[in-house]
Amino acid sequence: MKVLVVGSGGREHAITRALDGSDAVEEIHAAVSNRNPGIVELADSVRELDTNSPDEVVEYAKETDVGYAVVGPEAPLEAGVVDALEDAGVYGFGPRADEARIETDKAWARNFMEENGIDGTPDFEIFESADAAAEYVAEYDGDVAVKPHGLTGGKGVRVTGDQLSKEEAQKYVRESDWDDWVVEERLVGEEFTLQAFVADGELIPSPAVQDHKRAYEGDEGPNTGGMGSYTDAGRLLPFTCDEDYEAALGIMRQVVDALPEYRGVLYGQFMLTSDGPKVVEFNARFGDPEAMNILPLLETDFGEVVRGAERGDLPDATFAERATVCKYAVPEGYPTDPEAGAEITLDVEEGDDTLVFYASVDERDGKLYTTTSRAVAVVGVGDSIAEAEERAENALAGVGDGLRVRHDIGKPDVVQKRIDHMEELR
Ligand code: AMP
Ligand code: GLY
Repeated sequence: MKVLVVGSGGREHAITRALDGSDAVEEIHAAVSNRNPGIVELADSVRELDTNSPDEVVEYAKETDVGYAVVGPEAPLEAGVVDALEDAGVYGFGPRADEARIETDKAWARNFMEENGIDGTPDFEIFESADAAAEYVAEYDGDVAVKPHGLTGGKGVRVTGDQLSKEEAQKYVRESDWDDWVVEERLVGEEFTLQAFVADGELIPSPAVQDHKRAYEGDEGPNTGGMGSYTDAGRLLPFTCDEDYEAALGIMRQVVDALPEYRGVLYGQFMLTSDGPKVVEFNARFGDPEAMNILPLLETDFGEVVRGAERGDLPDATFAERATVCKYAVPEGYPTDPEAGAEITLDVEEGDDTLVFYASVDERDGKLYTTTSRAVAVVGVGDSIAEAEERAENALAGVGDGLRVRHDIGKPDVVQKRIDHMEELR
């Protein structure tokens, strides 16, 4: 098969690598918005284009004569890239714009959940005026999360009682550029991600992952796209039990039952509360960084997963029972005031248990420079989280100056805190 990869972050480097390891895949072509050196190295051809333009993506797909496309980020899904590929006879592994609304339109997503009786839906209200939303924040009995309806790269949401007071949240809602808001009850617990391959009503889940959204160690600072993430050996996390995993999986199955046309990757973001998993949100694609935890563990040929999805016959994918720890190195000042254009050096020896994924870096004259986004990720694999974490840290020693890392991710004391937190809540 010939496959087009759309997108150029760490997630898409992981997708490209998984396709590169597939016996079913003969050619990989890449539609990118920046020349990710990891993708450039593996792909048979690379084209810089507007990945959110269905026309440009389809044109390149025709030129390269691909039969399949794997779309990494959410924005092309929202723009209808999969719909356009389908019209051009290319199978897109990703939902069409209509089904992608589960991620791209938070108001639609919450209404969908309510109408279909999806378990774990928090209390919510939808507003089309900032003033009305702000008033509701003041009246609501308890803490809230305020969310603009559309895509904000995970950076538009604010949670009271955690990041800011209710007064500050009201001010934030009134003073920002958005009119449309979802206001919902604040969920308290530990977050985890469950990603699954989906096609024709079938759903094949992968191990649970915990991402770290806050910019600084100790979960301080503003939200980011994700600073790093880990899995344990097996499908559970140290603070979850089988029942939690099954409950989350049951919620994902309810979604797929209610959206039978859905295909690609379904990503559930859950808050494990004292009352079981509740839905923070769904995404219509792999997580970034979470793809970098899951894809290296995938034992099933990823090309066969994509082809199986097209044929309505998803293979029963299996994952190695090993732990992974992923840590992103980001530009100084990320996410509020990132320093772009800083030269970075990388001296990391990759091996079976130490992987490097490039994300947003510029390569010029053989040198690497930061952009305004996350630059490069390392992944350690091991028999325990502690072993994987050590391998990730050893790899990070080869990352030169000019980048910042959350070293606390996956450290035994931080993992223990999550376990203690859940025990306390239960
Ligand atoms: P979202 O873009 O919906 O994933 O929100 C970004 C982050 O905000 C989530 O990963 C959570 O950490 C937090 N968040 C979102 N909704 C809630 C909620 N209802 N209760 C508590 N935290 C939330
Ligand atoms: N890591 C969170 C996301 O990809 O949305």
